[in-house]
Amino acid sequence: MRNKPGPAKTFTATERGFPKDFLWGASTSSFQIEGATTEDGRGASIWDVFCRMKDRVNRGDTADIACDHYHRYADDVRLMKELGLAAYRFSVAWPRVLPRGRGVVNEAGLDFYDRLIDSLLEAGIEPWLTLYHWDLPQSLDDLGGWPNRDTAGWFADYAALAAKRYGDRVKRWATFNEFSVFSLFGYALGWGAPSIADRALHLQTIHHVNLAHGAATDVLHDLVPGASIGAIHSYQPLRPQSDAALDVEATALFNEHWNLAFPDAQLLGCYPPRIARAIEPYLRAGDMAKICRPLHWFGLNYYAPMYGRADPDNIWGFGWGAVPDALPRTGVGWPMQPEAFRDTLLELTARYRLPIYVTENGYGTAPADNEDKAIEIDDQPRLAYLQNHIGAMAEAVRAGAEVGGYFVWSLLDNFEWGAGYSNRFGIVYVDYPTQARIPKTSAKWYSALITGKAVE
Ligand code: FCB
Repeated sequence: MRNKPGPAKTFTATERGFPKDFLWGASTSSFQIEGATTEDGRGASIWDVFCRMKDRVNRGDTADIACDHYHRYADDVRLMKELGLAAYRFSVAWPRVLPRGRGVVNEAGLDFYDRLIDSLLEAGIEPWLTLYHWDLPQSLDDLGGWPNRDTAGWFADYAALAAKRYGDRVKRWATFNEFSVFSLFGYALGWGAPSIADRALHLQTIHHVNLAHGAATDVLHDLVPGASIGAIHSYQPLRPQSDAALDVEATALFNEHWNLAFPDAQLLGCYPPRIARAIEPYLRAGDMAKICRPLHWFGLNYYAPMYGRADPDNIWGFGWGAVPDALPRTGVGWPMQPEAFRDTLLELTARYRLPIYVTENGYGTAPADNEDKAIEIDDQPRLAYLQNHIGAMAEAVRAGAEVGGYFVWSLLDNFEWGAGYSNRFGIVYVDYPTQARIPKTSAKWYSALITGKAVE
């Protein structure tokens, strides 16, 4: 006779080892959810232009409407409150507040974020503001974009505008989201805006974005009383697909580009060795001191381990390698290994010695699973991913990793860059034709966990 299964083991966040003041939230970004791309004086961004290039975004999707959050923000904040979020991470669209990137200010654009911030505060949700989540004003790209060193100064001016306007109410500031990802995809691989693949332009981008980060950090320190400032990095363990010398060397360069070029410069004051040699021509005296400024926290976007290999078709000679068959994959094909998340948290605590906030982590589905709305809403694979990764984070915390909070990516299904609307990462389903929001099974579990309930 078989034993009857016992009751499932359930635990509260505190029982899992998270401190009482651990911050639970959700993340989004301006371009991916706002829509209203031509409304109330917003200028164009490089992603508006990219979406209109031929064969760049899946199915020719654009972010013109996206989740219509620009008009529905009040309902979205209500939803966040119902879920029990303690914090909400969003980004400001630079071209909404400065349509040409510099000069004339758009009051209507500034007002939108005033309204959003005020509703968050009223709902008891802490606003976490990211200044740059990839939507560079097109007018600045016309002047050379990130490869133009002046863009760093224009970014600092934009940071000052935002700091003066919102700094009385917003204390948590991030300069950039995933420096390495938009630099690599936009300037080395041509897979993201502004669709460039050029070594020199990519190196200049890396350095100028770092300078922009440093300059904006100084501005935030000066202008926001009590500011808590960080930068948000995509940091994924990168392993060679084989022991072949070419794969190992290519993966070491890939790792410098993906994981180290930005946090090492910003927090250790130096570029990793291979990049340091290549970037030399663009360095001026005193630059590293301008980049390496005091920060309060490390923002970690963690999704999956990555595998590298030598790839002669890529301008840098590295590319994505084969993932071992033994690793299960998410709906968008990313390998899953929660222990790698635990190890990354411990490694980063030791390497940069700052409190970590996990500013993104989540699970994506592709049309093969998400075209059936009922299956997507009862999102068992996403639920399992979150359970396993939050479990791994608890292990890291118990082993001494300094983690202050966790933001799930994403609150809502949204415009997923080159994949358009075909990939869904939300814990809340967005029915695009009606714009209805429907919390998925994962949202219900997350909500229970973060409001102190014992859950599986
Ligand atoms: C990250 C981005 C975020 C979203 C997730 C899935 O690289 O920061 O905007 O696209 O991936």
